[in-house]
Amino acid sequence: MKPSLEDTLLSAIRNIPDYPKPGIMFRDITTLLGNARAFRRAIDELVQPYAGSKIDKIAGIEARGFILGGAIAHQLSAGFIPIRKKGKLPHETVRVAYSLEYGLDEMEMHKDAVEAGEKVILVDDLIATGGTAEAAVKLLRQMGADIVASCFVIDLPDLGGRARLDNLDVPVRTLVSFP
Ligand code: PRP
Ligand code: ADE
Repeated sequence: MKPSLEDTLLSAIRNIPDYPKPGIMFRDITTLLGNARAFRRAIDELVQPYAGSKIDKIAGIEARGFILGGAIAHQLSAGFIPIRKKGKLPHETVRVAYSLEYGLDEMEMHKDAVEAGEKVILVDDLIATGGTAEAAVKLLRQMGADIVASCFVIDLPDLGGRARLDNLDVPVRTLVSFP
């Protein structure tokens, strides 16, 4: 019998205690990305609700959101917007500060990466506090994007990220969760 989506993904994700700081259980998707079956199933499942809809662009959050977002953009015949840590993008940017489960950072997007009214799906590997995704939503909305959804492979529901995006009226799709 074909293993369930949840079993396929959960068994492909590696759990690393105390990384990058003591007390953090790091959910490592590099093992999922290296598993052809799990990678394909994750991408197929994330794109499925949007197949046939007109999505202009996928916005991927550095770094693991680039890998998933690139594959999703290809599947949906959409463009790709890189949302990067500060100082990495060469042209004019918008910038926002944000906090995450284990620190503070700033992220940027090129000002001309999205046109007002374009339909965008935001993609990352994991949502924890939602600080990173909220910052990306702010950048995209600042330039007039219409964010139709956000997609993550992993949800850490105890950290409240989904509720944070709900408050911003951004629909959230996740595939597996670790309570
Ligand atoms: C991880 C993950 C998300 C973010 C989620 O990235 O890939 O982007 O944390 O956390 P949050 O919901 O609490 O904001 P990280 O900041 O470790 O950066 P990296 O992808 O560059 O390693
Ligand atoms: N980003 C924030 N918290 C994380 C975790 N526990 N594992 C992987 N990435 C994360």
